[in-house]
Amino acid sequence: SDADRDMMLSRIRDVPDWPKPGVTFKDITPLLRDAPAFARVIELLSDAGPETGEPVTAASPPVDLVIGIEARGFILGAPVAHRLGAGFVPVRKEGKLPAETTTANYELEYGEETVEVHRDAVAPGQRVLIVDDVLATGGTVSATVELMRAAGAEIVGVNVLLELGFLHGRDRLADVHLDALLTV
Ligand code: PRP
Ligand code: MG
Repeated sequence: SDADRDMMLSRIRDVPDWPKPGVTFKDITPLLRDAPAFARVIELLSDAGPETGEPVTAASPPVDLVIGIEARGFILGAPVAHRLGAGFVPVRKEGKLPAETTTANYELEYGEETVEVHRDAVAPGQRVLIVDDVLATGGTVSATVELMRAAGAEIVGVNVLLELGFLHGRDRLADVHLDALLTV
C-alpha cells in the first residue's frame, strides 16, 4: 500500500559518497530501529506465496529454508524464516563458513566477489526463499541463485526490501520470481 511505501521510504536513509565517492548508500538502520516498521517489513518479506496468492502460515509452509545473504540479508532473513516456520541458511562472503562449501563468483565494479554456502546446507528438492535488503546490480543475488541451483534447490522466490531499478539487476534474474517491497 501507499502507507507501507511511505513508511519504508521515510526510514531508508541516503548516505552520499559512501562507501566511496559517487555512490549513494541506502541505509536501512533507521527502519530496523523502529519496532512497528521492522515488524511490518518482516511481515511483507514473508509473503512467499506469490504463486498462489495464499497467505503463508507455519502450518502449511511452502518454504523449507530461507537463504539470507551476508550481512544485511541475515538481519531480515532470520526473522522471515522464524515467521514462516522455515530453517535459515547463511550465504556468506568467502572464508567465513567453517565446513565444506560451494562457491560462486560475481563481478564488482573492480574485480570479483565470492559467496559461499555450506555444501550440506540445502538438500536437492528443498524449497528455498532468498532474502536480501537491496538489489542493486543483481550480482549478489544471481550468485546466490547459482549456489541454490548447484544444490538442486527449488527456488520459490527472491524477496528484497529495496530494488534500485536504474541498475537493472532484475534483468539478470529473469528466470526467478523476484519481489521487491520498494523500487526506486
Ligand atoms: C549490498 C546489499 C546487497 C548487495 C547488492 O551488500 O546488502 O547484498 O550489496 O548489490 P548487487 O545487487 O550489486 O550485488 P554488500 O556487498 O555491500 O555487503 P553487506 O550486506 O555485507 O553490507
Ligand atoms: Mg549485502
